[in-house]
Amino acid sequence: MSINSKKNKGNKPAHHNSVSGENLDFLDQTLRPSKWDEYIGQENIKKNLRILLDAARERGHPPEHLLFYGPPGLGKTTLAHLIAKETSSQMRSTSGPAIEKIGDLASILTNLSPGDILFIDEIHRLNKSIEEVLYPAMESGLLDIIIGKGPSARTIQLELPAFTLIGATTRVAMLSSPLRSRFSGGVFRLEFYNPNEIIQIIKRSANILGVSLDKMAAKDIGERSRFTPRTANYLLKRARDYAQIQKKDIDQNIAREAFNLLGIDKAGLNFSDIALLKTIADKFRGGPVGLNTLAASLSEEESTIEEFNEPYLLQIGFLERTPKGRVLTKRAYKHLDIDFPKEKQEKLL
Ligand code: ADE
Repeated sequence: MSINSKKNKGNKPAHHNSVSGENLDFLDQTLRPSKWDEYIGQENIKKNLRILLDAARERGHPPEHLLFYGPPGLGKTTLAHLIAKETSSQMRSTSGPAIEKIGDLASILTNLSPGDILFIDEIHRLNKSIEEVLYPAMESGLLDIIIGKGPSARTIQLELPAFTLIGATTRVAMLSSPLRSRFSGGVFRLEFYNPNEIIQIIKRSANILGVSLDKMAAKDIGERSRFTPRTANYLLKRARDYAQIQKKDIDQNIAREAFNLLGIDKAGLNFSDIALLKTIADKFRGGPVGLNTLAASLSEEESTIEEFNEPYLLQIGFLERTPKGRVLTKRAYKHLDIDFPKEKQEKLL
């Protein structure tokens, strides 16, 4: 169940969950694994969670509070849903920016039933005064509410039902350390998926969607997926659309034609990634360039660059972060088919 769903809309940057601006909520619903065993990858996290959930169940307690962080599209929300299912709990969902006032949080917390999971997406965007109300709620199940103002103000304390908070964030460094430390069940970093896992996810999704897909096409989608299930599923659906219009099955040619039309290259880079790399190459001689200068030059938000472009570019070794700023690597030059600057070549020797 989603709380504050109206307020939830539009809080993320415009292209939060897509390669090219399309809203993928519907897609997430259909293709999201609904059973623990269907969730492919993140093996280490699953192993740890399995122990935590089984032990909590044996003790007859709700699991302790959990934090999931990592780039968008890796399955943080899906894991939260699966935990709710595994513990036969009701999941209540909201997000950091949707909780505007202390009263919003108080109403959410007091409406929880024993054993509920409270999922807060983008938890790094909770404001400080609200975080402070959350601390005692997480630690000892107590909600302190101030009633009235000035000298006649008084605090009442409410006892909350036992609940599990699951927080998700793409920006763990923005979380205050007091908040981070209250995730007593653990803080888990979701990793990019490996090629084998991504192919398995693509095959599973193709099955659900009822589309036929040959091996090479699956491999091609995988290579362009940025090691991210959400992107892999998005590309699969675009290839399916293209194949349908062409009245063909999805083979490598069809997939490639579809991706060329979308402007997604063979490393999975889209227009905005390419623009970012080319700007560093052309305007800043390959860097180092500071994030704010880069953002201004691209007319883009710094947070969009940090959350959506950089994690993958760093992962594939096209970009490096140095104390002086962002630097393009030799590998990125090769991909862009631009000569690696001579002065950089000499520095390496
Ligand atoms: N769809 C999206 N993420 C998935 C995952 N980790 N496993 C299976 N299917 C998925």
